[in-house]
Amino acid sequence: MNLIHFDIYQQLLKEKSGLVLSTDKSYLLESRLSPIAKKWNFETLDAMTIALQGVPDQKLVVDIVEAMTTNETSFFRDTRPFDMFKDHVMKYMKEARSDKKSLRIWCAAASSGQEPYTLAMILKELEPQMPGWRFDIVATDISHDILDQARQGIYSQFEVQRGMPITLLMKYFTQVEEKWHISQDIKNMVKYDYFNLLDSMSALGQFDIIFCRNVLIYFDQPTKGAVLDKMARQITPDGFLFLGGAETVIGLTDNFKAVPDQRGLYGIPTGPHFAA
Ligand SMILES: C[S@@+](CC[C@H](N)C(=O)[O-])C[C@H]1O[C@@H](n2cnc3c(N)ncnc32)[C@H](O)[C@@H]1O
Repeated sequence: MNLIHFDIYQQLLKEKSGLVLSTDKSYLLESRLSPIAKKWNFETLDAMTIALQGVPDQKLVVDIVEAMTTNETSFFRDTRPFDMFKDHVMKYMKEARSDKKSLRIWCAAASSGQEPYTLAMILKELEPQMPGWRFDIVATDISHDILDQARQGIYSQFEVQRGMPITLLMKYFTQVEEKWHISQDIKNMVKYDYFNLLDSMSALGQFDIIFCRNVLIYFDQPTKGAVLDKMARQITPDGFLFLGGAETVIGLTDNFKAVPDQRGLYGIPTGPHFAA
């Protein structure tokens, strides 16, 4: 792909999804967009690129953005955040929300559902200790296709093998031929919706806990900062934000601060998780 054509995709992806495409990733464009060109009956990828310079069909733009997103995820990804969620965050919330007995959790880049379903399974396991509690998990993503997959809750042997304790697999999944179907009970705990992190978050309401893991890495510094600032307005003053292992708030925003001794966990600096 020539540099001018590369530039067109670079700008389009940045504007529509925040994704920063470095020149060393041009091979990704070729391999991921050739099937889209074929689907849209363009003779070549170049022909599709030329069409994009006019007034492109917005459905084509959506297909291009979806094709370029990286949806890598797994159940209990990195283990530690989910131990922290169970042992630290939920321990705090059990006390702090003992009057209300309800929690709102947002998975902001949910991909094919493994992250929100992991949270749902952990909360289901906690139910006997928290009778009468209501847990709402809102799971969003920019990719409609990946959201459809997440809603189905059907996974391959390989996907369930990665990180999932066998006891939970046996308890919350049913094997149907080669695939594993997550139980309706767990599915009912998660509500999926399309949401682009570049958009205004004010209509989403307040959350006690936000998971925004392994998506900021694809954005440039100003976009990362802007997303974090918007999230700070959607989180309760004593809420918790989880970021991915390669992500941080340092140098991006003063509206979140790392919770001491809990790697990858952040809170509002004026909140109760920090000594005055
Ligand atoms: C690598 S996955 C991370 C999934 C999960 N959070 C995890 O850590 O395992 C990144 C997800 O972010 C989504 N994404 C990319 N840009 C986005 C945007 N601007 N708004 C919302 N989601 C976005 C992608 O579609 C993809 O599903």
